[in-house]
Amino acid sequence: MSLAAVKTWCLRLLPVVFFLLWYYYCYFLKSCGVISKSPVPRKSFCENLSPKKWETLDFNIARANSLFLKLEDFFWQQRPSSLPLPYGLKGSELFLLKILAVTASYKMPESISKLDCRTCVVVGNGYGVKNSSLGPVINKYDIVIRLNNAPVRGYENDVGNKSTLRFFYPESASPNPDAHNDPDTLMVLVPFKQNDLRWLKEILYNEKRVRKGFWKPPPQIWQGKSSHIRILDPYFLYQTASKVLKIPVQPKGKEKPVHPTTGILAIYVALSYCDVVHVAGFGYPQSKNQKHPIHYYGSDTMKSMKDSYHDLSHEAEALKRLEDAGLIQYLHPHS
Ligand SMILES: *[C@@H]1O[C@H](CO)[C@@H](O)[C@H](O)[C@H]1NC(C)=O
Ligand SMILES: *[C@@H]1O[C@H](CO)[C@@H](O)[C@H](O)[C@H]1NC(C)=O
Repeated sequence: MSLAAVKTWCLRLLPVVFFLLWYYYCYFLKSCGVISKSPVPRKSFCENLSPKKWETLDFNIARANSLFLKLEDFFWQQRPSSLPLPYGLKGSELFLLKILAVTASYKMPESISKLDCRTCVVVGNGYGVKNSSLGPVINKYDIVIRLNNAPVRGYENDVGNKSTLRFFYPESASPNPDAHNDPDTLMVLVPFKQNDLRWLKEILYNEKRVRKGFWKPPPQIWQGKSSHIRILDPYFLYQTASKVLKIPVQPKGKEKPVHPTTGILAIYVALSYCDVVHVAGFGYPQSKNQKHPIHYYGSDTMKSMKDSYHDLSHEAEALKRLEDAGLIQYLHPHS
């Protein structure tokens, strides 16, 4: 072989050598983000499930097949509630009867409930998901749970555009659910207080709205379809408070009550209903700067969270425990 021929060969081999080096770098060191371990929510996750996911944390729960309140629950009084909202139904029965009489279905879509293994992602509203390009990943889960009035249109690249369930309460409702949801998204009301049920009843029956008793005016006109409304069983908020956060569920004197956020509640519901639970957009900025934005949309800052009914650092610790126990997995780096 002439020197020139050897040279040409070497040049031809060069890309191969580089490719092998790059592959080694990516694959074994998992550090280049192309062949990354980015979670793919398909059946691979369902294969090595540990059936005892709960035992590690002593939550002691069976797989939940029904998440929503049913009209039948009230006729047979199977479990009369000893607590008022948000943790029980005491005193709210009549509002519920009226609501459930017109919402007609209390179920998840059959296409989801029949799955042997349900993969879920809970998309929080946190700044951490901004510019993450996780949209296509999020869209692949069987169930995508969204919170409150977080927008989707215009943010699809980061948060996807599939919405299976949206958890909300009157103060966090957007007037037209169709604007940022799919036509078949289930709108899941999380009742925190009796007025929340009254609000929905007044809307469904087109009665005069009572405006008092909200910490922020809820929409007076709400265009959700009654067939797509579900009422979350307060059992889940009770469990989130007592088992996950370990906060008191009985009101104590004049102290301002502390309730779980819809975010951690949604994670608990997902853990009860799904076999795989991944999360994105949870956590608050580390920065002590009160002007740091907290959502992937809009301009709310840390400052706006100061007077809320939530204990955010307590929730952050609970999330860390769930993550450390392998019950939830984040889709993006987080603090
Ligand atoms: C997101 O991307 C936009 C446009 O590329 C950029 O201006 C912005 O600073 C980025 N935000 C974050 C949080 O990285
Ligand atoms: C999500 O976006 C894709 C691509 O634009 C579109 O084909 C699909 O119909 C959208 N899905 C929903 C539920 O909006």
